[in-house]
Amino acid sequence: MSHSAFAYVDGVLHAEGVSAVTLAERFGTPLFVYSRAALTEAYQAYAKACEGHRACVHVAVKANGNLAVLNVFARLGAGFDIVSGGELARVLAAGGQAKDIVFSGVGKSEDEMRQALDAGVKCFNVESIAELDRLNAVAGQRGKKAPISLRVNPDVDPKTHPYISTGLKANKFGVAFDEARSAYRAAAALEHLEVVGIDCHIGSQITEIAPYIDALDKLLDLVTQIEADGARIRHIDVGGGLGITYSTETPPETGLFVRTLLARIEARGHGHREVFFEPGRSVTGNAGILLTRVEFLKPGAEKNFAIVDAAMNDLARPAMYQAYHAIDPVVPRQDAPHVYDVVGPVCESGDWLGRERALAIEPGDLLAIRSAGAYSFAMSSNYNTRPRAAEVMVDGGEVHLVRARETVPELFAGESILPR
Ligand code: LLP
Repeated sequence: MSHSAFAYVDGVLHAEGVSAVTLAERFGTPLFVYSRAALTEAYQAYAKACEGHRACVHVAVKANGNLAVLNVFARLGAGFDIVSGGELARVLAAGGQAKDIVFSGVGKSEDEMRQALDAGVKCFNVESIAELDRLNAVAGQRGKKAPISLRVNPDVDPKTHPYISTGLKANKFGVAFDEARSAYRAAAALEHLEVVGIDCHIGSQITEIAPYIDALDKLLDLVTQIEADGARIRHIDVGGGLGITYSTETPPETGLFVRTLLARIEARGHGHREVFFEPGRSVTGNAGILLTRVEFLKPGAEKNFAIVDAAMNDLARPAMYQAYHAIDPVVPRQDAPHVYDVVGPVCESGDWLGRERALAIEPGDLLAIRSAGAYSFAMSSNYNTRPRAAEVMVDGGEVHLVRARETVPELFAGESILPR
């Protein structure tokens, strides 16, 4: 995925055909801007590589749950990977279909299970024996049989940030590899469950194919054993996790990634099974930017700060994972740059968006924080009673406000004070 939807035209950053200056003036800042073309291109890279195979793509809603974003994917025929009842409701409201949804997550409540069973989701990705029992009980009460796969933890190192690696033994996710076969036997013995697949997810922002192949090989060995025990594995869900370019990372191109995995599955004699992909970041990350305005420049003895109107509540990734997001002026100046830490107004030293960035900027200038389409608005909060930013989607020369900026009264509308 390239940044090509966000390019300079006559010295001004544009989102497709629309100037970012115009967007900021019309909708205010901080402002998330998504490109329909970029979302489409990133999704189609998966869909095209899946053509001619029994494979499908479930977009991970957690990366970006905006209804308009989900709707763009739904119109392209995407399925969805959800982790809560809230995300289920979002997908249905955005025009997605329950039969194209897989439900992941380590802590599904009984209520969420009921909702998903009643809606008729395609598969529950179950993460523990205790969850098998709970789901069996809930399905029994509803007079249903719940389609399940077990999330198996293949214990491979995806070589990514520790907070976003999920397939190691030390992680809370999935059923341990060594216990998976007996967990499948336990599942098969439960009356209201139907084993339909197997799944894994080894982490996020993975920039190599090798860990996927390692995980896949282990999973395929297990599939053979599980089927020897009498269950039928119709699908293999390889999870999400493909990384994107934030700065100098060079992840494999999506098509190559998909084709390599599909080829491996076929070469090992499992080509008759359906294959699921669950991408989040790689279909949304570089399809969005966050526009922010410089409030003050604050020179210091050791550091210069550029204080901007976006903060850690809008984009938590730098504070949370020391994540790098490129930051570019919307209208670059020709002046000599100075080195700044780009920080927000939140009262925390951890409130930074970029460190030691060479920028030629003045107060009032607009900056574009790149790669803000994934885990950005989705992880935003109201810390410091800051209303969450507006979101717009550009479609060629058109702009659509897809989430209005929150207002302060909305933030405490549900609160009350004691009567005396
Ligand atoms: N499937 C499952 C079961 C997952 O847990 C995740 C992400 C995905 C799919 C999608 O992974 P992706 O393709 O987006 O890597 N907030 C962190 C990322 C957390 C990812 C959690 N799981 C960040 O901002 O880097």
